[in-house]
Amino acid sequence: MLGPEEFIKDAIQKIKEQIGDEKAIIALSGGVDSSVCSVLVQEAIGDNLIAIFVDHGLLREGEVEEVTNTFKDRLNFNYVDASEEFLNALEGVEDPEEKRKIIGKVFIDVFEREAEKTDAKYLVQGTIAPDWIESKGKIKSHHNLALPSGMVLELVEPIRDLYKDEVREIGLLLDLPEKVVHRQPFPGPGLAVRVIGSLTPEKLDICRKANKIVTDEIEKAGIDKDVWQYFAVLTDSKVTGVKGDQRDFGYLVVLRIVDSVDAMTAYVPELPWKVIQTMSQRITSEISEVTHVALSISDKPPSTIEFA
Ligand code: XMP
Repeated sequence: MLGPEEFIKDAIQKIKEQIGDEKAIIALSGGVDSSVCSVLVQEAIGDNLIAIFVDHGLLREGEVEEVTNTFKDRLNFNYVDASEEFLNALEGVEDPEEKRKIIGKVFIDVFEREAEKTDAKYLVQGTIAPDWIESKGKIKSHHNLALPSGMVLELVEPIRDLYKDEVREIGLLLDLPEKVVHRQPFPGPGLAVRVIGSLTPEKLDICRKANKIVTDEIEKAGIDKDVWQYFAVLTDSKVTGVKGDQRDFGYLVVLRIVDSVDAMTAYVPELPWKVIQTMSQRITSEISEVTHVALSISDKPPSTIEFA
């Protein structure tokens, strides 16, 4: 990469040349890649970039507010609450691959509907180098994407030659908040891959609360920048427990805390035991439906980072 300041100047110039006075859209997730891309393109073409933040109802606690507050004054920011549409389409679906397919399809439906409201000719994507290097080889960056309706958008991929650490560096120079720049990766299908089996509002709520506790405790312990991902999985196993004097029969939650360089491999680092104990105690006491918390100790491979 050029020096970071040079990269930004150069990228803005190239974006201006590619898009000119036309409109562009981006699906902004709030992750570092799409956030950096949105801000870069905004610097180049201003409000001709329409940023669309789709809420699929599978986001973490406080995520909608955080993303909205970060970008509403900085971008031509459009929040779309499609949670009902996603959750209806996912009702009763247990298979993880099926869930992913449905989420992908509904996402395209929603995004396409929003895209059609604009007369955008360009689609900005936060593709980074590891996304294409191993799988496809270098394909030229000016290529088109046809949406199912027939709408054709030319792709703009301003950070496709960067690696994650470089994207973060650029993000800081663009004055994105530390919290966004160092945000842990969060899968596109969101909590759908962290709730095993079918999704219900109740199960999503339990998963959301457990994930919040994990995040709070990792941040409180100051180890959030030392580990790659930290989260809780709501299994579909129910186990016997005892709460107060009463037998209880509740959910098993698994803590998954891994370190990695690029998510291709990952390992479970040694963790401060007090932090794990506090998470377990808080989850079982603050979430009445949970009776048992387990810690995942499997590396990738053979396991994957997510459970589903
Ligand atoms: P796995 O579970 O395959 O995950 O070891 C590797 C990394 O990718 C994230 N992940 C996803 N990201 N859509 C995404 O955008 C997905 O369907 C998806 N599944 C997994 C995961 O969080 C980890 O960082």
